[in-house]
This record gives sequence, structure tokens and C-alpha cells, in this order.
Amino acid sequence: MTACIVGWSHGKFGKLDGETSESLVVKAATEAIAHAGIEPKDVDVIYVGNMNGGFVRQEFHSSLALQAHPDLRFKPSTRVENACATGSAAIHMGLNTLAAGKARFVLVVGVEKMTELNSTQAGEVLIKASYVAEEATIEAGFAGIFGKITSAYFQRYGDKSDALARIAVKAHKNGAKNPYAHFQKEFAYEFCRTPSDKNPFVAGPLKRTDCSPVTDGAAAVVLADVGTALGMKHAVAFRATEHVNDFLPMSKRDIIKFEGPQLAWKRALASAKLDLLDLSFVESHDCFTSAELIEYEAMGLTAPGEGERAILEGWVERDGKLPVNVSGGLKAKGHPVGATGVSMHVMSAMQLSGTAPEGLQLPKATIGGVFNMGGAAVANYVSILEPLR
Ligand code: COA
Repeated sequence: MTACIVGWSHGKFGKLDGETSESLVVKAATEAIAHAGIEPKDVDVIYVGNMNGGFVRQEFHSSLALQAHPDLRFKPSTRVENACATGSAAIHMGLNTLAAGKARFVLVVGVEKMTELNSTQAGEVLIKASYVAEEATIEAGFAGIFGKITSAYFQRYGDKSDALARIAVKAHKNGAKNPYAHFQKEFAYEFCRTPSDKNPFVAGPLKRTDCSPVTDGAAAVVLADVGTALGMKHAVAFRATEHVNDFLPMSKRDIIKFEGPQLAWKRALASAKLDLLDLSFVESHDCFTSAELIEYEAMGLTAPGEGERAILEGWVERDGKLPVNVSGGLKAKGHPVGATGVSMHVMSAMQLSGTAPEGLQLPKATIGGVFNMGGAAVANYVSILEPLR
């Protein structure tokens, strides 16, 4: 156990007209510092997770966090980027800084303002997180990448559209109870399963309801070393963390194996001395429903090709043996890329401290897992969290 989350904040995700990445960063930073019960002057180091890459004109984000309070002036602040795992990457930078003894309190803010662009333009930005030399011509942005992965999976293991639709239904059922979610309504199985004008195919076998939306939002955490955290009001500890990067080109890998995620989970569980089913819940990176399906296999919940069992047999439902994405996941909560990893940690910290919003809180939440992924299983981060006391 190396460090703890001692304060957090989570804004409402969605299409936030009138907000800028600056206003989102300022609100998230201010609220997380207040939640930790510290003063802005107590923050030693800041990391801002922001993918950007052309969603907004303001590319240089680190000092936007200093706009939250004059006492943050002259604090070292760095923008961190690792595609859709940017939020977890920023948290890891914070943990490394604490481990090096370079800070007592680290503020980590994750933010993305995506909806100034339409979905097609956003797709053009997101595809830059592929191996551009070979993959950038794939149509439909990043959905095209996962369309390809999904087709390859169906080719090897059969058509799993029923399971994908069930994953979407689960996400939206859970998200309907999450006041921070982009979509807060349930979607019927028939709607998710059947292509229609309102649910067209986007890429390969993926329909609109299989995709996470284009979303604005921010979330923040304050991190502290364990000794400091013992005296704090909130303290959720990192029992283990792992970070595994794989090759960028999909052509260099068996892409439906998700070997990077698999290794990250294996190492994290070994380091935490836990079995997967010791976890009370997992927040997993469902940028597309097929990603969640393959992640069931990568985390070791089912054998390869059998991921559908986890959803069709109810294992990953809220009341199942391993609830996955009780928050609604990226699918319902939204996926403002730079904020997503931080959001996953905040949602987990809320569960583990018993402070999740009504209807979202699990009756038993003692240890939680987070899996955040950048690119097509390229940058893979696992955190295992538990209350400090
Ligand atoms: N799931 C469910 N409904 C969605 C949705 C989604 N992902 N995205 C949009 N909608 C709904 C909107 O709320 C709107 O509903 P309404 O008509 O009731 O108001 C309707 O669909 C049309 O919205 P629009 O934004 O015009 O849809 P779109 O076709 O332009 O975009 C996607 C849909 C799926 C293409 C877009 O959300 C997308 O590109 N997602 C993937 C983002 C991505 O790649 N992220 C990185 C992952 S690694």
C-alpha cells in the first residue's frame, strides 16, 4: 500500500454547452481540494490529464489548474497524456511523485471538452490514437478500430450481438441511477439489439448503442501518502497498481486477445494477493460494448471466447458475483477521454467510502478494481483500491 485518495470531485458529464476546459478544471480542482479538507496552499504538485489533440484550441492545460486559487501559483503542474488512459496516467504520475517523497499532497485533474466538434470531427481526432501509419484510414474514427476488432472476434467465436446488446442495457440501467452520467435513462434490449434509424450501424457490427458517446467533463482526486492519509477524513488506499504498454500497431498483435490488459490484471491481482472474485466490483473500460466483452476474458472472469457468459448469466450485473460498471461505465456515464480514468477512480472511491449516490451505492463494497485503457489495448492501467481503515 503506497498512497491514498484523500479527496475527490466529479462534475456532471454530458454535452456541457457554456463550459470550457478551463471552467471544468477550475471547478473540479476547487471541489476536490475542499473535499480533502486541505487548503490550496497545501497542494505540492499538480497533474492535469488531458488528451486534447485538437478537440479545443487551448492545447496547453497544466497551468489552467492554477486558475482555481491564487495560492496554487508557482506549484509545479504538468499535463499528462496517454490516449484514453490519460486519467489513470496522471494518477500514476501522482503516485510516483508521492513514492519519490517529492510531495505530501498531489492534485490530479482529468478533463476533456469534446463536443465543440461534431461526432465525425471528434472521430478524426480520436483516430490519432491508433497506429496512424497503418490504421488512420479506417472509417468511422475509433469506432472503426473497434468495429474491426469486433468483426475479428465474431469471426473466431461467432456472432455475439446478443451479448453486446445486453452489455449496453446493463450500462444504461446502471447509468440511469448515476446523477453524474451523460445518459441517465434506460435503453430497452430490443432497441439496443435491432438496427434502426435511431440505432444505426456505426462500424462493422457495432451500432450506436454499442459506442460510448462524445462527452465533456472533468473529475479530480487529491492523493497523499499513507501516513498523511491516516489523519484525513477520507482515505481510499491503492492496494496495487499496474501499467502495461503493448505495441501500437494492431498488425503486431492478436488483437482480440487483449494481452496487455490481461498482463496488467494478472500482475495487479498477484501484487494485491487477491483473486479476481475477491473484488466487490470492477470499473472497466467499456469504450465500446465489445471492449467490455473482451475485458471479461482479459481480467480472467471467463475463458477466451466465453465472455458472453458473464453478461448472459448475470455475473456482471449489479447483484451478480462481480458487478462491472455499476456507474454506467463509459457507455452511459460518457467518455471525456482525459477525465475517464480519474472518473473511474472517483466512482470507486465513492463506493468504497459508502458515499456513492443513492441507488448507485453497492450494499457491500470492500475492494474495487479499475481498468482504464488507452488505444486498442495499448496503454493499460489497473488499480486495486480499498478503504484505508
Ligand atoms: N449511445 C447512445 N445514444 C447516443 C450515442 C451513444 N454513444 N451517441 C449519441 N446518441 C444519441 C444522442 O443522444 C441523440 O439522441 P436524440 O436524437 O434522442 O437526441 C442521437 O443519438 C443522435 O446523436 P448524434 O450525436 O447526432 O449521434 P452521432 O451518430 O453523430 O454519434 C456516435 C454517435 C456513436 C458515432 C458517437 O457517439 C461516437 O463517435 N462515439 C464514439 C466515441 C469514441 O470513439 N470514443 C473513444 C473511444 S476509444
